Amino acid sequence: MRMRNKYRKPTSFNYIAGSRCSLSTVVWSLVGFLLFLHLYSLVSHYGAKGGVAQFGTSHNPVIRELEEVEHENIQIPPPRKRSPRAAKRRPQKPTTLIDEFLDESSQLRHIFFPGMKTAIGPTNSDSNDSSYYYPGRIWLDTDGNPIQAHGGGILYDEKSRTYYWYGEYKDGPTFHVHKKAAARVDIIGVGCYSSKDLWSWKNEGIVLAAEETNETHDLHKSNVLERPKVIYNGYTGKYVMWMHIDDVNYTKAGVGVAVSDYPTGPFDYLYSKRPHGCESRDMTVFKDDDGMAYLIYSSEDNSELHIGPLTKDYLDVTHDVRKILVGQHREAPALFKHEGTYYMITSGCTGWAPNEALAHAAELVMGPWETMGNPCVGGNKMFRLTTFFAQSTFVIPLPGLPGSFIFMADRWNPADLRDSRYVWLPLIVGGPADRPLDYNFGFPAWPRVSIYWHKKWRLPSG
Ligand SMILES: *[C@@H]1O[C@H](CO)[C@@H](O)[C@H](O)[C@H]1NC(C)=O
Ligand SMILES: *[C@@H]1O[C@H](CO)[C@@H](O)[C@H](O)[C@H]1NC(C)=O
Ligand SMILES: *[C@@H]1O[C@H](CO)[C@@H](O)[C@H](O)[C@H]1NC(C)=O
Repeated sequence: MRMRNKYRKPTSFNYIAGSRCSLSTVVWSLVGFLLFLHLYSLVSHYGAKGGVAQFGTSHNPVIRELEEVEHENIQIPPPRKRSPRAAKRRPQKPTTLIDEFLDESSQLRHIFFPGMKTAIGPTNSDSNDSSYYYPGRIWLDTDGNPIQAHGGGILYDEKSRTYYWYGEYKDGPTFHVHKKAAARVDIIGVGCYSSKDLWSWKNEGIVLAAEETNETHDLHKSNVLERPKVIYNGYTGKYVMWMHIDDVNYTKAGVGVAVSDYPTGPFDYLYSKRPHGCESRDMTVFKDDDGMAYLIYSSEDNSELHIGPLTKDYLDVTHDVRKILVGQHREAPALFKHEGTYYMITSGCTGWAPNEALAHAAELVMGPWETMGNPCVGGNKMFRLTTFFAQSTFVIPLPGLPGSFIFMADRWNPADLRDSRYVWLPLIVGGPADRPLDYNFGFPAWPRVSIYWHKKWRLPSG
């Protein structure tokens, strides 16, 4: 997965030997080069120091707590007894944690999908764990029901100073349409929850509902609606929802657009299309500080991502589009910005099964995008190779804490998709990259993006 920068060329002085230049030219070139290196290292050093002060890796106790590296030591149960003949026919491979995760009858099921007893939420008054996130546990809304907002995203509404969480409402039976089809739940709609503190969530109902009868409608329950994201348009004063629209076999590969005057809907469904005439599956929208918004989607059989600006009213794409991360096969994009640099977390493409996340960075939102590596820290090796058994969906900036974010991911449960869990973890931008990028003589071009595993954590107070 490690991507080599295409600008990287082995530094070569062969031209000196081949050319007829004088000794003094060579000497002056070398002096110039060394001066440049020295200056560069000064700048880099200054940058790194600035980073430490800014992000408080060592100074800010609030962030230090989020950055604590927490390890997980999970004992894999001994393999089940098999007859000697069966063992001889097919020797058993050692079980890995991901085998256990994918095995619905695993003895470790409760570690990945803990039961209702340990659910968190404002109605569980007997726990003194109010406002702590427990990634993977059932999370209840203010009515005491499990939150249904999968593949979701968050809008911060300036007017009401409220967070709105939109996601797939999947509280229906999981089934397979045919033998080879992926597990699915019929479209029910887009769920919306509101919160002031990002922990206690009130159910605002289904803000875009499935179509029950009209079979030719995009939102007919037999189709697919995934990854809804809402952004607010300052020019029109409307809330605009973008989502992945597909048929049951994922051959339509389009985006849908819906609009509302209120964050809590109801949203009017406008239309679907293939943006720029291209396939579009996993997608997200990103609104920049300057009010420009962008659609980012997996295309060409999920082998690459496309990014392009939306029109001023956010109801369509423009003609401008760039191909990024070409050939890298990434999906589930989640974009964010810090100090003028754009970052993105993506997952690989393995259906509902978890895989390794990668962080990417860019100077310009339209690219070129550089792949930095796996951002996951802590847990254990298998946790880090599976994004803590989850898949990215969104990254929320934490107001007042520059460089600190919440990484939102879904721990899918393909046996019962409604019971998929939320994995929210602190994401910190700062510190030197652990894997120096190549084209700038080994000096890190971007700060590191780190997602820290915690069994239990909470937002810094205030
Ligand atoms: C309540 O919190 C304290 C301090 O974090 C902890 O020691 C204790 O075990 C908690 N009690 C319960 C019932 O979770
Ligand atoms: C069914 O949906 C299609 C597509 O949105 C629409 O053109 C058609 O008018 C709808 N039919 C009815 C009876 O509402
Ligand atoms: C989906 O694929 C199955 C099996 O190939 C096929 O029978 C079915 O008609 C397809 N459905 C749609 C809506 O394309």
